[in-house]
Amino acid sequence: MDNDLLKSASTPIYYYDADLLRRTLEALTTAAAIDHRFKVHYAVKANARPEILSIIQNTGLGADCVSEGEIKAAVNAGFPADRIVFAGVGKTDKEIRLGLSYDIECFNVESMPELEVINSLASKLGTVANVALRVNPEIDAHTHRYITTGLSENKFGIPMSQLDQAVDMAHSMSNVKLRGLHFHIGSQLTQLDSYILLCERINDLTEHYLKQGIEFEIINVGGGLGIDYNDPDANPIPDFKSYFELFHKNLKLSQSQEVHFELGRAIVAQCGSLLTRILYIKETPTKRFAIVDAGMTDLIRPALYQAHHKIELIDDNTENNCTLLKYDIVGPICESSDVFDTDVELPQLKRGDMLAIRSAGAYGEIMASQYNLRRLPGAILDNQ
Ligand code: LLP
Repeated sequence: MDNDLLKSASTPIYYYDADLLRRTLEALTTAAAIDHRFKVHYAVKANARPEILSIIQNTGLGADCVSEGEIKAAVNAGFPADRIVFAGVGKTDKEIRLGLSYDIECFNVESMPELEVINSLASKLGTVANVALRVNPEIDAHTHRYITTGLSENKFGIPMSQLDQAVDMAHSMSNVKLRGLHFHIGSQLTQLDSYILLCERINDLTEHYLKQGIEFEIINVGGGLGIDYNDPDANPIPDFKSYFELFHKNLKLSQSQEVHFELGRAIVAQCGSLLTRILYIKETPTKRFAIVDAGMTDLIRPALYQAHHKIELIDDNTENNCTLLKYDIVGPICESSDVFDTDVELPQLKRGDMLAIRSAGAYGEIMASQYNLRRLPGAILDNQ
């Protein structure tokens, strides 16, 4: 980080290292090249800042969108419409019409009623929608329950018991073209074993359909590759090699099938930090609080998922004592959950010191809110 750039920053503010983003993308594209059938779509929901989208678009990735806003942001950033996929359990008619008018690559359909609506809207517009059916594969991703998506109790996807019916339905419709099956079991997966189970489930399904003479053009395995929140400096770039090798080794495919990946966090998380300054140090009989100017409105992950983000002092000040003290790092929002972390060991802090809350490039700025009528955090893009 460039300390002069930081000193003048008005906090709270997101800091993005464009250079790390580019290096991450390079590692990703190199690892994905293990198989010519692999195509990666960036999950725009992780971070839709236009500069970031533009860098990602430049490397030739497609875009995975979940709303009208995301489709428009992707198109504005230069993603070609035929590399845009559209997922989500609750697509509105307006959003479906938008996707149809752009003739996007694929609608990832999450229910049979949605399939009927897509068919009817496509018919009215005199077009044919490319669709993939999202399957709920009933696989535990072993991640936080709020970001687990592939279990029968989750609202996502079509239950396996109804898949034959959904496939028949899609085949009987004149204005949808069934191109593939889509899966996504959860986010921040650190045990790759769950992906092996996913591959096995996919192989069983593709074999089942091959027996009926059906071969899907696209197998979309979703996203979810996790990152190292504990030690971002040791692991700034996720292990894409093992990830893509796993699918290469375990998925049984024909030469003409494509495999789509929808990665969000693994691409953008490590290039972003939330910068914040200490407002007050408050010592009570039981606690030492560092009250900072960023709050859960700027980065909600710790409050919502009890997520851990490494917090460090941006040390441009030699007065800071070398002895470590324990702090609870808390924000100014009127909620007891507005805590970034507890018992964090840091050099002695004082008013005005700057902290970096690391690994915040994914699901950070994009999830910011204006609760308490706060202004949204801005951003600095370094090394552009
Ligand atoms: N594809 C689908 C269908 C998804 O639902 C998601 C994420 C992704 C791809 C991208 O997953 P990723 O590669 O980023 O893990 N706000 C939460 C994460 C929510 C993820 C929602 N779906 C967090 O801050 O941890």
